[in-house]
Amino acid sequence: MATLSLKGINKSFGSVDVIRDLSLDVNNGEFIVFVGPSGCGKSTLLRMIAGLETLTDGAISIGDKRVDHLPPANRGIAMVFQSYALYPHKDVRGNLGFALKHAGIEKQEIDKRVNNASEILGLSEMMERKPRELSGGQRQRVAIGRAIVREPDVFLFDEPLSNLDAALRVHMRIEILKLHQRLRNTMVYVTHDQIEAMTLADRIVVLRDGRVEQVGTPLELYKKPVNTFVAAFIGSPAMNFLQANVQDSSVNLEGESICTLNAKDGPVQLGVRPEHLVVSDNGPFKGSVSVFEHLGGESFVHLALADEQSLVAKLDGEYIFNPGDECSLAIKAEHCHVFDSAGRNITE
Ligand SMILES: Nc1ncnc2c1ncn2[C@@H]1O[C@H](COP(=O)(O)OP(=O)(O)OP(=O)(O)O)[C@@H](O)[C@H]1O
Ligand SMILES: [Mg+2]
Repeated sequence: MATLSLKGINKSFGSVDVIRDLSLDVNNGEFIVFVGPSGCGKSTLLRMIAGLETLTDGAISIGDKRVDHLPPANRGIAMVFQSYALYPHKDVRGNLGFALKHAGIEKQEIDKRVNNASEILGLSEMMERKPRELSGGQRQRVAIGRAIVREPDVFLFDEPLSNLDAALRVHMRIEILKLHQRLRNTMVYVTHDQIEAMTLADRIVVLRDGRVEQVGTPLELYKKPVNTFVAAFIGSPAMNFLQANVQDSSVNLEGESICTLNAKDGPVQLGVRPEHLVVSDNGPFKGSVSVFEHLGGESFVHLALADEQSLVAKLDGEYIFNPGDECSLAIKAEHCHVFDSAGRNITE
């Protein structure tokens, strides 16, 4: 177990800057999740930590040891990739032990680590099976097991669950959470999946174009996103953004006052999370229902407001609307987010 420190990391491929002056300190035993749009540099960053990619500039340390000049095998890391190529002709035991055997570790020690990993991952009953005789989730567990046996200081995961179907993803997500609770290793995890990020992370790092937009606990990012980019990225369905106006310290939408804000008069963006809207006679968000989606326990109502803006509200399952129905919604002032014209959060 160890801390991981990234200092002033830059990475360019030719003239393309992929990571720009990125610094981050990961605590010992912390579970860090990187999120961000496709192409923002998540995999590149992980590959640099692993030693599979060189740095253009900057320093990486694990514990108090600088590692960016060391080959991958000497860094104390293990990486689990999205496409985990298991050796098809080796059984589970052979796949788990291969890297250790290759590194010249003695058989007794290999057996000990392989048995320990297989017990943690529930693979003990299938040690003699070949990969083709395993389900997708079991194969993924073998891939994670190969990382565990190396007893790394830091685990790196690059979208390890994205090839699995929805039910298996949920199952494996919980397995990874349990694994972290048990091993307490430092983990860096890349995902596109909202729920994985929110449920696994001690802290989430939101990246855009190779830069850190915000670092914080899942709830910090949800409650206090620094800008519209983070606000739109965290939370599902995504936050609604509405053009509003500040006048005399009141944030107004279509002439209705939504909340108060000590700012100068002028246009702002009002951020409203779908789950914070409630049906309310004479609520300030008035419009006609364009789409209604019923999911059983909850429903989504898409509302066309008078001034051609629209929003989505997440309601509990007791409501039924039809397209064309009039509907009015309300929100508590404390749930409103206000952003300036540059997208910065100016909520008080
Ligand atoms: N070897 C390379 N040569 C040139 N450009 C590269 C190379 N590897 C990655 N890139 C570019 O660097 C940028 C970041 O890529 P990266 O794979 O890190 O993104 P990502 O955030 O992991 O995206 P995704 O979510 O799609 O996996 C992309 O624009 C990509 O095209
Ligand atoms: Mg990637």
